[in-house]
Amino acid sequence: MTQKKVFKTILVISTSVLCFILSNPKFSIASDVGNCLLCHKYPGLSRVEGDKGILRLLYVNESAFNISMHAKVKCEGCHTDIKKIPHDPAKKVDCLTQCHIIEPTSEKKFSHKDVADFLAKSVHGKFDKTGQLKKFPEDRPYCKDCHDNPLYRPVSFNKRVTPGISEQALGRCRVCHKKDDFIYRFYNHVTTRLHRSRNPKNITEVCVRCHDDIKLVKRHNLSIKAVETYKDSFHGKAAEFLDERIPDCLDCHVNRGESVHQMLSKKNSLAPTHENNKYNTCSNVECHTNASPKLAQFEVHAEFNKKRSPKQYYFQSAFIVLTGGTLLPLLGIMLLDLLRRLLPGLSRRRK
Ligand code: HEC
Ligand code: HEC
Ligand code: HEC
Ligand code: HEC
Ligand code: HEC
Ligand code: HEC
Repeated sequence: MTQKKVFKTILVISTSVLCFILSNPKFSIASDVGNCLLCHKYPGLSRVEGDKGILRLLYVNESAFNISMHAKVKCEGCHTDIKKIPHDPAKKVDCLTQCHIIEPTSEKKFSHKDVADFLAKSVHGKFDKTGQLKKFPEDRPYCKDCHDNPLYRPVSFNKRVTPGISEQALGRCRVCHKKDDFIYRFYNHVTTRLHRSRNPKNITEVCVRCHDDIKLVKRHNLSIKAVETYKDSFHGKAAEFLDERIPDCLDCHVNRGESVHQMLSKKNSLAPTHENNKYNTCSNVECHTNASPKLAQFEVHAEFNKKRSPKQYYFQSAFIVLTGGTLLPLLGIMLLDLLRRLLPGLSRRRK
């Protein structure tokens, strides 16, 4: 063997060893065990789909992914059908996939199946009690319809409204526990669930797509654009100003202590919005404590509509007249006064 050949063999062997080492999952980034970001990190990765030619982005923003709820789940944990690279067209992700984590109290593999069960029992469920597919199943929301929006907020955001949750409280854990990793993990695990991860305004954005779609509203014999009417109310106005003490959709439509996924129709006798339960819902300790039972007659989703909400209609009309009747003459007088000051020469009464 010549010296040149030996050198070449060594070079080939060492490059292959290096490639082998680098392709080992241990050397890739955090959750990206399968090296998916090797290709999916490129913003240009996209394809044109369907007859309408919709551009579908296949780019995954790594920093956005790393701060998302699922940052610790590896890509293949959800995209379970992708087993080799280059891969075949991927299937839809099933949000109920079981993962390897064991939930400590039931000792079962963790999945979101319980959420799906709650959702199935709710007014949004696709099947009725007898197992028949309800009308217009495609109108009923499933996980991704409501959870497309990564609006999870840090603990610090809630200091003002949720006493007891603050980063300073971490100092108390350090009194007894010595490892910061441990403290952060459990502190965050618990405290993120002590508050809503969305503010009332964000919550309405989840529902607006369907509940203000007048065609959908009619198809399902609902009577109002729920989000629009909410936004017109005192509650909704306060939500616009980011006041978090006011009730949002979930506060009134979910029974206390139950999963937010278990919303019921007002016709269901268990619903917090059912005629018989409305008073209890309004007068709970955090809202209108000790309110008179008449409060329950208040129309939360009142419309500016003579037939449906006459009281509100006439009240609002009177206010429009009152406000207009005060402001317009006032503006007129100010305008005349301004003219006088700017163009004193126009005055008829000269000295
Ligand atoms: C070698 C480059 C490469 C790697 C590595 C790669 N992908 Fe892809 N991926 C692509 C390309 C290219 C497309 C677009 C395919 C097409 O248009 O047919 C794609 C498409 C996808 C899609 C959308 C598919 C569809 O048909 O709707 C998903 C989901 C996906 N990849 C997930 C993953 C996951 C998860 C991994 C890691 C386990 C991964 N990819 C690794 C190149 C790659
Ligand atoms: C918690 C589960 C989960 C994890 C973890 C996850 N994905 Fe996805 N991914 C989804 C869902 C859900 C969709 C929406 C499409 C669908 O329903 O299949 C999706 C869609 C995609 C698409 C297609 C883009 C589109 O708009 O349809 C790509 C590409 C992709 N994921 C790549 C990745 C890569 C790369 C990783 C790891 C860095 C990853 N995913 C991690 C759940 C996940
Ligand atoms: C009608 C809209 C809607 C649908 C459909 C929906 N969710 Fe939710 N989900 C919410 C809202 C709203 C929250 C509370 C968000 C917050 O904390 O601010 C939530 C919270 C959660 C939470 C946190 C725990 C909790 O209950 O507060 C998980 C986990 C979850 N959803 C999973 C799912 C899964 C899985 C599906 C599909 C089976 C699903 N969701 C379908 C609206 C929805
Ligand atoms: C006064 C001391 C003290 C303080 C302060 C304290 N802990 Fe603990 N913690 C303990 C002790 C002792 C145990 C073991 C108790 C047991 O097993 O019954 C424990 C157990 C735990 C466990 C269960 C661990 C396991 O594997 O079972 C978690 C989680 C935990 N603490 C988190 C926290 C967090 C988060 C804080 C701060 C909000 C905190 N602790 C504050 C003393 C303390
Ligand atoms: C994908 C569309 C969709 C989304 C998103 C959606 N809904 Fe619905 N919702 C429906 C449909 C369809 C119905 C009618 C179901 C029926 O009557 O069988 C409904 C019914 C309801 C009802 C019962 C009304 C009654 O009293 O009969 C309530 C309450 C409700 N939704 C609240 C919400 C809230 C709150 C959100 C946001 C967190 C939301 N929905 C998001 C489609 C949606
Ligand atoms: C202050 C409590 C409260 C809030 C906040 C609230 N609702 Fe309602 N909602 C009710 C009550 C009570 C009813 C029963 C009908 C009535 O009295 O107007 C109702 C009825 C409904 C209906 C059925 C209406 C129909 O067409 O028959 C839907 C859908 C609905 N709400 C969705 C929402 C959505 C979406 C939000 C958030 C934007 C929301 N609600 C906020 C209390 C509330």
